[in-house]
Amino acid sequence: MTSDLMARRRRLLGPNVPIFYDEPVEIVRGEGVWLWDAAGRRYLDCYNNTAHLGHCHPRVVRAIADQAAVLNTHSRYLHRGLLEYAEALTTRFGHGLSQMLMTCTGSEANDVALRMAQAATGKAGLIATDNTYHGNTTAVAYLSTRRPPIGGWPAHVRRVPAPDSLAPLGGSLAAQPQAFADGVARAIDELEAAGHGFAGIMLCPIFANEGTPGVGPGFLDPTVEVVRRAGGMILCDEVQPGFGRIGSHFWGHELLGFAPDVVTLGKPMGNGHPVAGLVARPEVMAAFREAFGYFNTFAGNPVSCAAAMATLQVIDDEGLMENAREVGAHALDLLRGLDHPLIADTRGFGLFFGIEFARDGQPDGDFCGRVVEAAKARGILLGRVGRAQHILKMRPPLPFAGAHAEMLAETLDAILREMPE
Ligand SMILES: Cc1ncc(COP(=O)(O)O)c(C=O)c1O
Repeated sequence: MTSDLMARRRRLLGPNVPIFYDEPVEIVRGEGVWLWDAAGRRYLDCYNNTAHLGHCHPRVVRAIADQAAVLNTHSRYLHRGLLEYAEALTTRFGHGLSQMLMTCTGSEANDVALRMAQAATGKAGLIATDNTYHGNTTAVAYLSTRRPPIGGWPAHVRRVPAPDSLAPLGGSLAAQPQAFADGVARAIDELEAAGHGFAGIMLCPIFANEGTPGVGPGFLDPTVEVVRRAGGMILCDEVQPGFGRIGSHFWGHELLGFAPDVVTLGKPMGNGHPVAGLVARPEVMAAFREAFGYFNTFAGNPVSCAAAMATLQVIDDEGLMENAREVGAHALDLLRGLDHPLIADTRGFGLFFGIEFARDGQPDGDFCGRVVEAAKARGILLGRVGRAQHILKMRPPLPFAGAHAEMLAETLDAILREMPE
């Protein structure tokens, strides 16, 4: 059955289409923190951050269906839903981030943010870390080291050394914030010397795709200072930490304590409905709108706005950020109690956790992969991240309860006992 579907996928979609697990799962239904496969087997979802409120949350499903039954069109007509959502969203931000632009994907939001920085500064140069992912448009893919572009990386994009927990920049976790900022300063100097100038840096505030290596409040302070001194923009990619997942704050940049110029949003924004976007200060938004205009057929349509509005309301009505804080702290305690010689570090923010595996100080991606497969076999879905895919990545839907955290920790404990090395 699975092999039939895999063969059809290959025949119909072509090669190298990403898929999870040695033995892929056919998921047919979701509810809350649970997913079911075609054979009726239930899995505890500890990976999918897009289903932020839980899979198929009834209020979002109803909001989508109700609006779809009345009207769905595009943003070149007046529609109150777009404005009501813009008001509700922008009140969640400080730092003068009072205007919104909607897209359909995080990639598009980041693509717009890059062009916004260029429009606002009149410069071309862009910076990101050398171990990240911000999406799949051509411009955004230039920020990623994973898939070299045909013809090489363009000269106006620089990828600076990413923070790391096993081999921290500057030689220690304490030295890392300044060492990271020094790398950014060097890249800015190179961009200026090459005549591109410096438009902005794109960062996830908790460095989610880098594996959250030693990040915390104040981590980016030296970098922010360097960027400000050079007149560049800070483009904050909140696609992963945003909307209350980190428990202590609604946004990652609030936890770190800095003021971005542009914030991009995605995955959790519509609880699985494809809606994304960004917020910016009025002068930055105006620079972009005046330079490029912007129309996106599906972005900000009434159905997407209804999905996004219901998602925002449910986060508050069900106290999901508070749940992320409380259950996240309990889960982190349990995960930190796991004992295994290859565990190098266990860290987390709210309902976002990582367990890093290393052998003789070197990342052990192979071992981490075996843990993910073993967890799946026991009914728990996990993911991996990090330069060597050696960090277990856990980002369950926010209604995750204490009992789910205990099930996760007990399962990992049993797996690790069976896998001494
Ligand atoms: C940090 C970050 N930014 C942007 C994106 C791209 O979002 P999308 O897949 O919706 O285009 C991703 C996707 O994984 C991401 O992890």
